[in-house]
Amino acid sequence: MFRKGVVASSPGKFILLGEHAVVYGKPAVALAINKRFLCRVQPGKINVLNGIPINAKMHPHITYILKINGVKNITISTQSEIPSSSGLGSSAALCTSLSAAIKAIKNENIDVEDLANDAFNAEYEVQKRASPLDASCSAFGKGIALNCPKNMGKYIWTAEKGKNKWDIFEIPVPKMTFVAGYTGIKSHTGQLVEKVRKYKERNKFATDMVNEIENVTLEGMNCISKYDLTGLGRVMTQDHKLLSILGVSCKELNKLVDASLRYSYGAKLTGSGGGGSMIALTDKPDKVCETIRMHGGAPFIVKTDVPGVTLEQEF
Ligand code: PMV
Repeated sequence: MFRKGVVASSPGKFILLGEHAVVYGKPAVALAINKRFLCRVQPGKINVLNGIPINAKMHPHITYILKINGVKNITISTQSEIPSSSGLGSSAALCTSLSAAIKAIKNENIDVEDLANDAFNAEYEVQKRASPLDASCSAFGKGIALNCPKNMGKYIWTAEKGKNKWDIFEIPVPKMTFVAGYTGIKSHTGQLVEKVRKYKERNKFATDMVNEIENVTLEGMNCISKYDLTGLGRVMTQDHKLLSILGVSCKELNKLVDASLRYSYGAKLTGSGGGGSMIALTDKPDKVCETIRMHGGAPFIVKTDVPGVTLEQEF
């Protein structure tokens, strides 16, 4: 270790369109948000997290990141504004900020693509199946689109696993106002990804839904390029319906989505679902917050176009 300590942070994200289908190489869009995960690392005797020796079963993402960085003696303290398992990308933000802090304390070169790749591999290992969407968004920040039309943004990197390949682009984030609503119910990404896999294996109908999600996502990408908020909202709501048919919504999410629609261009669950959060595109954010609160959710107005992984302090 070359330094006494480093603090790094990464943003959470929400998925605007394409979750679950993206696991099968389909297109998707995610935007980084103004809620961050902070990791402070300092040299220690053994690996410790927030004062307790690290238990690999309880902290598989952290264990994976420590292993690939060859670290055995580090003290980690974390602080997060992103509720865990809320569909807002806390595990990818943890992985990218921790990886950056470890590389910085060892005086290693920090390459943002490597951080995204490390976080993707950590998620893939833990969930047994994943896309590089969350990992890319927390590493690069701003807006990220996977397998989008080539003129939509700036190409940054390509990830591949088995039969699936994702070309990853940074996209301009137009001015849009979103409200997120957290159901308070933990969302178990690995289980939901597995549920969709089994459904697809048993039933051709599930594959049709995944292909439909691809179509609405491409339509939504076109709306973003044309700054057509009405069209974008419409496809967000369609995407929510398709995700519900795929079996990854729940009554609490449906309630928040339905209630928000009255004051929004569109609304949908975001992330893996089964709980976690929903997102609404609106120009009446206070009204949407009020209705989400009245229907049992915890709302917040989301700021987008925020930076990716950042070294906050080196001492
Ligand atoms: O719920 P989150 O934030 O972990 O998002 C999961 C998104 C999925 O498409 C369901 C899985 C993935 O790896 O892309």
